[in-house]
Amino acid sequence: MIDSLFDLSGKVALITGAARGIGLETARLLASAGARLVLIDRDEDALADACADLSGQGANVVPHALDISDMSALSACFDAVEARFSRLDILVNNAAVVQRRPAAELTPEVWRQAMAVNLDATFECCRLSQPLMIRAGGGAIVNVASIMALSGGGFYPIASYHASKGGMVNLTRALAMEWGRDGVRVNAIAPAWIKTDFNRAFLESPGVAEKLLPAMPLGRFATTLDAAAAALYLVSPASSMVTGHVLPVDGGYLAH
Ligand SMILES: NC(=O)c1ccc[n+]([C@@H]2O[C@H](COP(=O)([O-])OP(=O)(O)OC[C@H]3O[C@@H](n4cnc5c(N)ncnc54)[C@H](O)[C@@H]3O)[C@@H](O)[C@H]2O)c1
Repeated sequence: MIDSLFDLSGKVALITGAARGIGLETARLLASAGARLVLIDRDEDALADACADLSGQGANVVPHALDISDMSALSACFDAVEARFSRLDILVNNAAVVQRRPAAELTPEVWRQAMAVNLDATFECCRLSQPLMIRAGGGAIVNVASIMALSGGGFYPIASYHASKGGMVNLTRALAMEWGRDGVRVNAIAPAWIKTDFNRAFLESPGVAEKLLPAMPLGRFATTLDAAAAALYLVSPASSMVTGHVLPVDGGYLAH
């Protein structure tokens, strides 16, 4: 029973930003549940290393080195997935950028970059996945949002991140409403701080942990495995009645 609730044998899963951090951890977990992987990252060398590592552990992996804000590259990638597998069962929209600077300094170009990667590309991946998921008889999408999608933060200025991740959360709900009858479930996770390349230097800088950890009822930063385990649940048969949900992986931060 437990095995079948988390069995992804025969499923094809596409993960963006999969060369490191939460994306790579999610790839590992989904592969160990039996999924075949299509992994996207703009860092070609790190993606090659990640794929070599996963293949060495017996995973079936296809890498696509591209920047997800390049819509034609994204479209070509989904064409390749269709040609190779004729289906897609799982999409994890994980790649993102963060711009840690005061709102007054977010010029239109900088603002647009956050929207292009965090919101536009997320939507485009969902849009391109939907027909392939319908062909597969249904599917599951997980959007990797953030506690910053559901709160105003206040510890440091990242307005473009709040806005783009907040948009991702309500996009999750809208697509869940629209695609539920097609058997396509759409959910999000909202992790709290995790020490990855994304923000390790920041989290380890003097005074930062002392400021952030008191806001965490569980008293620690999250891990990539905490986030990946939540994603695994949301793409598994275990969550087959769950859609339009945003699952905080936040040690209680949003319970305030
Ligand atoms: N680390 C945290 O504290 C934290 C907390 C909450 C949410 N998140 C979210 O988790 C997700 C993953 O973050 P992480 O901490 O694992 O980061 P990470 O920096 O470890 O990994 C992100 C990966 O995405 C890739 N990437 C970035 N922009 C890309 C693009 N335009 N096209 C293709 N690939 C791109 C990077 O090359 C990198 O390999 C992000 O959506 C982030 O917003 C992170």
